[in-house]
Amino acid sequence: MRPTTTVLLLLAGVCSCLGNPILGILDPSCFVATDAVCPNENVTFWLYSNDTRDAPIQLNPVDLNPWDFQPSRPLKILLHGYTGHRDFAPNNHIRPALLDNENVYVISIDYAPLVRAPCYVAAVRNLPLVSKCLAQLINNLVERGIVPHELIHIIGFSLGGQVAGQASNYLKRKPKRITGLDPAKPLFILSNNARRLDAGDAEFVDVIHTDTLGRGMMRPMGHVDFYPNFGPLQPGCLEENPNDPGSCNHERAPRFYAESINSSLGFMGRQCSSWLIYVFGLCSTRSELALMGYHVSLQLSGSFFLKTRSQPPYAMGNPLEEDNSKYVAKFHLSSRHSEIEHDFEPELGESIPELEDKDVDTNELEKQLNWQESLDEPLF
Ligand SMILES: *[C@@H]1O[C@H](CO)[C@@H](O)[C@H](O)[C@H]1NC(C)=O
Ligand SMILES: *[C@@H]1O[C@H](CO)[C@@H](O)[C@H](O)[C@H]1NC(C)=O
Ligand SMILES: *[C@@H]1O[C@H](CO)[C@@H](O)[C@H](O)[C@H]1NC(C)=O
Repeated sequence: MRPTTTVLLLLAGVCSCLGNPILGILDPSCFVATDAVCPNENVTFWLYSNDTRDAPIQLNPVDLNPWDFQPSRPLKILLHGYTGHRDFAPNNHIRPALLDNENVYVISIDYAPLVRAPCYVAAVRNLPLVSKCLAQLINNLVERGIVPHELIHIIGFSLGGQVAGQASNYLKRKPKRITGLDPAKPLFILSNNARRLDAGDAEFVDVIHTDTLGRGMMRPMGHVDFYPNFGPLQPGCLEENPNDPGSCNHERAPRFYAESINSSLGFMGRQCSSWLIYVFGLCSTRSELALMGYHVSLQLSGSFFLKTRSQPPYAMGNPLEEDNSKYVAKFHLSSRHSEIEHDFEPELGESIPELEDKDVDTNELEKQLNWQESLDEPLF
């Protein structure tokens, strides 16, 4: 622990932590990495190319071999979420699709020991470590001229989406592109932008939201935000996973993204100023169309809505045109992101199982997590 941290803790009064009913219930068997350093045995990096897809190279972020990245190709970095690992979503969907179709390198990060169930709260507290270790790798790759900055694209699913946003705080140069695949909501509703993925984290941030009432965020978070099948349920999920359709909703984001890499029809979304306007049926059905996913235009901005099929191939191409301009004309709506709902997040349909039976106020817990990290983990 750094001396300043110690002093701040003393000033803040350690007793308030000890007497805290919420921190007190955290499962002591859940591992929280305090004072951990990078490189770290619990955050590992695996490099895949088309030739090594079954035998990835484990990278040492402080002793990189430039020959591993020859010839020069774009680099895609994949980040899993809660309970994940390097062969879990989004890796299992997106990595093969990338290697089949594009001449790229893929790095799958594995931080499974830090995000094990049933330790969601501990997982959230471990993310700054993952973010720092990722930033260390990227800073070294770029500074040593091994991979050009412009060729790096970070793709994070769920908690991995939030890691991508946090990593940006430690990067020497703002990344070119971050894709957030249904970035995680629990314990990020009240977060500041340093802890949460937002448009400030990369030159271009594209986000796909598929479980807006559950595990994923509702509010727009990027330059461009896509909302496939906006609503409580993704088509096919009740059939696929009747016991937990939410996890199926959530995982649709990496599935759609993987399909978008080589989709002949494409996922075409239509712009609407916000999901609220969309819900009220007030979007113009003749507004701008744009392609969602891997091949999204990097100049695009705004919120876009689309429908998909219930099973692969999910993409439906262009939506039908209907003329509702008479209704819409009455509302002078901007076609960009609307400001009205920026701070709004619906309550979770399901809360965090870890806290459910203990009747914990997640808002209160989240405030404490923010407070803690501002002390322990200065993000700048
Ligand atoms: C990757 O290798 C497979 C054969 O193993 C080949 O069919 C495919 O075209 C390769 N992908 C690229 C992008 O070169
Ligand atoms: C890695 O995680 C395990 C828990 O999964 C923990 O016991 C161990 O101390 C961690 N290692 C480091 C270096 O933090
Ligand atoms: C990509 O899509 C095209 C046509 O949609 C198809 O013919 C081709 O096999 C696909 N490529 C791969 C590697 O699956």
